[in-house]
Amino acid sequence: MPNNHGICFVSHNRNKLVEIRQLVPDGFDIYGLEELGLTEEIPETGNTIEENSALKAQYVYDRYKIACFADDTGLEIDALGGDPGVYSARYAGPANNSVKNMELVLKNMEGEENRKARFKTVITFIDKHGQHHSFEGIVQGQILRAPKGTKGFGYDPIFQPVGYKKTFAEMTLEEKNRISHRSKSFNKFFSYLNSVDE
Ligand code: IMP
Repeated sequence: MPNNHGICFVSHNRNKLVEIRQLVPDGFDIYGLEELGLTEEIPETGNTIEENSALKAQYVYDRYKIACFADDTGLEIDALGGDPGVYSARYAGPANNSVKNMELVLKNMEGEENRKARFKTVITFIDKHGQHHSFEGIVQGQILRAPKGTKGFGYDPIFQPVGYKKTFAEMTLEEKNRISHRSKSFNKFFSYLNSVDE
């Protein structure tokens, strides 16, 4: 495996960068947009999670021609036709307010018997040659009728994964990471990185 492969993570979120650096295989150097000097917001104008993750990575590749990756996550609820999906962060309005987003989901699902839902993360990695590689992680579950638990973030208190009696918000970070959409997609991505010898 090559040493010190620099890969840009297309995100302004420093916490995510720190987390991902701890998980990435040895020999890969993950750096953020700050290190590139890119401060502007990258437009997320896609209609799907796949499109948005590809758009974000392509934006950086077009400008710098470097290896980079972006991730995008959404909660897809069958009874809501796949919503909030790509709009998960801003379902109840432009501000990212988790409580309001969850309240709106619960309101829109009042009286609904079909509670099936899934979290989906898509990572798009663009290699130094401009080739796209995508890695998907899905966790199936159901939307409860009221929030339960205080850990985690976003929609965690109303999402109960299949096979569990507790929500993501009642799990420790370790428990959640063992089964989560995000860790599944990142594990696939990192196995891929480990397997390529450019
Ligand atoms: P992002 O693409 O990772 O920024 O995620 C978009 C939105 O999806 C977030 O603002 C959250 O509302 C929601 N979300 C993403 N991952 C999770 C999760 O693990 N639990 C709960 N909500 C999540």
